[in-house]
Amino acid sequence: MSSLLKLENITKVYRTNAGEYVALKNLNFTLERGEMIAIVGASGSGKSTLMNVLGFLDHCTTGKYLFSGRDVSHLEDAELATIRNKKIGFVFQSFFLLPRLNALQNVMLPLLYRGTPTDTAKQKSLDMLSKVNMQKFVDHKPNQLSGGQQQRVAIARALVGDAEVILADEPTGSLDSKTSHDVMQLFIDLNQQENRTIVVITHDNKISHHCPRVVTLHDGNVVEG
Ligand SMILES: Nc1ncnc2c1ncn2[C@@H]1O[C@H](COP(=O)(O)OP(=O)(O)O)[C@@H](O)[C@H]1O
Ligand SMILES: [Mg+2]
Repeated sequence: MSSLLKLENITKVYRTNAGEYVALKNLNFTLERGEMIAIVGASGSGKSTLMNVLGFLDHCTTGKYLFSGRDVSHLEDAELATIRNKKIGFVFQSFFLLPRLNALQNVMLPLLYRGTPTDTAKQKSLDMLSKVNMQKFVDHKPNQLSGGQQQRVAIARALVGDAEVILADEPTGSLDSKTSHDVMQLFIDLNQQENRTIVVITHDNKISHHCPRVVTLHDGNVVEG
């Protein structure tokens, strides 16, 4: 079977008024189903750029991207959005929960977007909130939850649609060290118990050493892992 994600000779060039900036340089990267990896590197090394390319949030400039064996390098944005909605779950440093919706409604949203009947969406979301140990807080709004609890809701939202891969960009960046550890343990449990494929971007060694594979970026290229 083909790898879940495969980047071949990827380059990403940002064009700004100040000129061109090469953020990814001939980068090669492969991720298998069921892997859990950390992507580490100094600030500015290209971690978020890589995640944006992997998650179809941005196009690479040159190179080839195979998703589940399919070349997606030249697909239109609308088609990429459809694949992204079904197959990729995102978790960000600042959670990005909708403030007016409670935890349950936030988790249901991606399912409702794709036309899942409300009853089914509700049941799946309640199950997912239980898995992340948030069943007691389903009717709480984000401002009634701690940072760690908000991140658990965001993880439930990322996972509820049976995404093939979770891309988490600095998911513990706003959390204290105990809460960061708990969130990482949750990712490990989801990886080991449900075989979820998880990519965690971090600049924190204490976070990355939880992961069996660590990929190090330096100046837009993989130097290790
Ligand atoms: N939209 C953009 N336009 C121009 N340059 C950018 C843009 N996004 C990122 N960069 C530059 O690309 C490099 C890599 O950025 P980024 O991927 O955000 O790194 P990291 O997440 O590792 O800190 C940095 O030098 C950054 O300034
Ligand atoms: Mg970043």
